[in-house]
This record gives sequence, C-alpha cells and structure tokens, in this order.
Amino acid sequence: MIQKPRGTRDFFPDELEARRRVEETMREAVSRWGYREVSTPEFENLELFTLRSGEGIIEEMYAFQDKGGRDIALRPELTAPVLRMYVNEAKVLNKPVRWYYFGDCFRYERPQKGRYRQFWQFGIELVGADSAMADAEVMAVGYNLLKATGVSFELRIGDLAMMRSLLADLEPDLQKKVRACLDKRDYGALEELGLGGDLAGSLTALIESKTLDDAFAITGSIPEETRIRETFAILDAHEVQYVQNFGIARGLDYYTGCVFEAFAENLGAENQIMGGGAYRLAHLFGGEETPSVGFAIGFDRVMVSLGEQEVKRPTTVAVATTPEGRIFGITVAAAFRQAGIRTIADLMGKSLSAQLSQAAKHADYVVVIGGREAEAGMVTLRDLATGSQQTISLEEAVAGVVGSGTR
Ligand code: HAM
Repeated sequence: MIQKPRGTRDFFPDELEARRRVEETMREAVSRWGYREVSTPEFENLELFTLRSGEGIIEEMYAFQDKGGRDIALRPELTAPVLRMYVNEAKVLNKPVRWYYFGDCFRYERPQKGRYRQFWQFGIELVGADSAMADAEVMAVGYNLLKATGVSFELRIGDLAMMRSLLADLEPDLQKKVRACLDKRDYGALEELGLGGDLAGSLTALIESKTLDDAFAITGSIPEETRIRETFAILDAHEVQYVQNFGIARGLDYYTGCVFEAFAENLGAENQIMGGGAYRLAHLFGGEETPSVGFAIGFDRVMVSLGEQEVKRPTTVAVATTPEGRIFGITVAAAFRQAGIRTIADLMGKSLSAQLSQAAKHADYVVVIGGREAEAGMVTLRDLATGSQQTISLEEAVAGVVGSGTR
C-alpha cells in the first residue's frame, strides 16, 4: 500500500467541512476590515526566501532544482511571496494595501502533533502604512479573527526596539544568537552565551516587565517610545486583550518593530497559533523601502485546538425507486437539486427495502417512486424524522422539503 508523504495529511469530508466552516468565519471577519484576498504560486525562486534569511534556511525548506536547472522552493510562508507580488505591481497599487491569504505552506520539519510538513496559513499583510494605527489595526484584526473562530488563546505583544536597545553594543552575530535563544525560550543556552551580568540582568528584567513604565525604566528613553506607547493605547481602544511581552523575538529574520504571538491554551508544545509583526522586505525584492505589518495564523493548530466539531448536514433527500420508477426518479432528483437540495439516488440496483434502510442513515427525507407513482407523475415523500408520508405531486414534494429548512 502506498502511504502519503511524512508530515502530510488526508482530510475526509467531515473534517474538511469543519475546516471550510472555520475558514469561512475567518474570511468574513477579515473582509469586515477591508482586506481582500490574494493568491501566489506554491513554489517560488529559492532566492526569495534566502535573500533575508541566508542559506541556512534551505535546511528547513523543500528546495530543489527544476528540469531547467532553476533553484526552486515550495513556499515555507506567504509574507515573502506576497511582498514579491506587491513589488512586481507596486506602481499601480493604491497604498496602503490591505491583503489577506489562505494557502498551504511547506517546511521540512520534524512532524509532531500540530507540526506538519504541509500546513495552512491564514494571514494578512498591510503594506505601505507606517503608523501606530497600522500596527494596532493588524493586531486587532488577528485578535478578532481568532476570537471569531471560538478558540481560547492568549495574545502576547512586544516590540523589538526594546531588546535592540539593550543589545545595541553586541556584535550583530551575537545579537542574532540572543534573539534565537529568546525565540525558543531557551534560557539555558542564553546563559551559555556569556553575556555580562548587567546585560543578562536587564534582559531578564525586560522580559519579565509587566507594564510599559517598568519596561522603559529598564531600556531608558528610546526613540520608539512614543510610537510604542501610542500603539498600546490604540490597542486598548480596539478593546484587544493582550499581555505585554518584550521577550518576543520571532523566529523569522525580517521583523523591525512591533511583534506579537498568540498561544492556544489547550495545545502541547506546538501551541503558537499566530505570529506576526512589522517588517521591511520590499526593498530586498527590488522595490522601494516599504513599511509593512502582518501576521499568519496556523490554521491547522486552530483546528486542533477547537477539537472535534459537529458539522450540520444540509437537508438531504434520498430517491428510492423500483426498477419501474428509476427513469422518473432521475427527473425527480433533478427537480430537488434544482431547488438547492442535496439529493442522492441509488446507483447499485439495490432492492427498495435496502435503499430505504440506507436512506435512514444519511438522509432526512426519502422520495419513494414505484411503477404507480411513475405513471401518475406523483411521488411518495417520507419524512424520516417523523415517519409520516404522503403521495403528492413532485412540485408539492419539493416545496415541502424546501420549506422545512435545515434539519
Ligand atoms: P511563523 O510564526 O513562522 O510566521 O508562522 C505563523 C504560524 O504558522 C505559526 O504561529 C504556527 O501557528 C504556524 N506554523 C508554522 N509552522 C508550522 C508547521 N510546521 N505546522 C503547522 N503550523 C505551523 C510566519 O510565517 C510569518 N510569515 C507571519 C507574518 C506575516 N509576519 C508578517 N506577516
């Protein structure tokens, strides 16, 4: 038996319908903020992802040469592709651009619960606005989207400027290492970097600070202070619930300002369900330096967190016929489908009683058609919930089912 590749999943109809419903909830929520959907290729030139992050990132990607010898990668995320698309068309776009996306991403990671090699992200990018209003809007959209799905989560918000100011005197390489340790919350490894006592102490105090005043007392006044204070004030006006966390370092390399992450309360190690922040990428791809801010929600993790969900079946009609009724049955089924009703007919030549017991499992109504009904152009409509049945015209039967609403 051939198996699916490691880290991938198949989705059966029940699960896929549950996913579609949550996806639809997110689409509706994001549209209310004026974001419109875009789509980019699933593979890109490898360079798009290595330009900012370096060759090291190839280890974590599906990267290969195509038959023309081009270096290609399956997209590990959508921010770089969306910004590439923005740069390609920037001249004709009205700024700021509010875009959202829902698409699959590929990362060559060790699979475990909530961590896959193919997974879906639902995200937004707000490109071309540099303000506290812009930062706060994106965080508020993320917060509202997650709320709309019903998932329980904590939103943590920070800003890289705070940590940057503490690390300013370190070599860039060492700064990167400190950020990596913080991102993984690996405080043991952080200690091994041998930062001086004062710096290590300040970092710990910054990470643990609970109020803006406490945090600025550690960093001293920094040029970004007004902007950061303003952003948090606007977040409060948006009624976003968050915890402040200036230890957020983010794994990806492109962030420049505000950063935020959301964590679901009922997941294990892989509990981060959203990540984002302010960044600059457009100039790397040949465009002008452009302030941007966005996030991506780990759609699969949201689904795991929500757990098994009952999906309402649309009203379903089974058409059960004797051999004499079969041809009229096709007309009957067509009339129900025309009226928007899910309608299923037997394909295997089963006996009428076998068709009826099958219908009891997956339908709300059975339309029984024998020779007599076919001749008279009538149908026998049985309501499987009440057991009541009547022989009526096709139009009456369709109207009766349509009028009953969704079961
Ligand atoms: P990220 O934090 O790498 O950020 O990914 C965003 C979310 O995708 C994560 O919080 C997580 O829920 C989900 N995720 C990541 N890897 C996996 C995986 N292997 N399996 C399942 N879910 C996963 C970004 O990708 C940025 N592009 C976000 C962004 C948009 N920043 C600005 N704009």
